[in-house]
Amino acid sequence: MYGGRMMIEKLQTLISKEKLAQRVSEIASEIERDYQGKDIHFICVLKGGVVFMADLARAVHQNVYLHFMDVSSYGDSTESSGNIKILMDLDESIKDKHVIIVEDIIDSGRTLSVLKKVLLSRGPASLRICTLLDKPDRRVAQVDIDYTGFKIPDEFVVGCGLDYAQKYRNLDYIGILSFEEE
Ligand code: IMP
Ligand code: MG
Repeated sequence: MYGGRMMIEKLQTLISKEKLAQRVSEIASEIERDYQGKDIHFICVLKGGVVFMADLARAVHQNVYLHFMDVSSYGDSTESSGNIKILMDLDESIKDKHVIIVEDIIDSGRTLSVLKKVLLSRGPASLRICTLLDKPDRRVAQVDIDYTGFKIPDEFVVGCGLDYAQKYRNLDYIGILSFEEE
């Protein structure tokens, strides 16, 4: 309800299931080329990264270890520094390991820029960032992204791990979500 009127959620396909599958296999090939003979440690940022990570991990044909973290930003602080709170930490050390953070989307970049510093301080052999989606127009904090699935316009999207109020994470395509009056 909004202003006494019912709002209907509308979905419009932005990236089809077929295009997603194609791009996941291309990124997997890039990763295989860059990490020949090495064990790879994916860190999934919950919950949004989980669907993309599951697809990507199965497309990489060498040892991939899966790790999970849950972080949240400290609300709408006006500080530009961007703070994150670790809600669930890794259960193993990443020291001397080849780590790739796997994210659903990089928007303002605040979360990832801080998370990258936190993880670098733990001494991994290498640390890269892989994101399914990138919304460059929204960037506030600088983040170097090593692997990007798709650059997208500044629209609110759902599917493939991305949610609206915890809904739509299991859509097998990426859709633009909009609201219309009934
Ligand atoms: P940021 O880069 O620190 O702003 O954080 C990005 C996070 O905001 C993502 O991991 C998502 O959880 C969420 N987010 C940003 N844009 C969207 C969107 O279009 N749909 C759903 N979630 C989004
Ligand atoms: Mg996320």
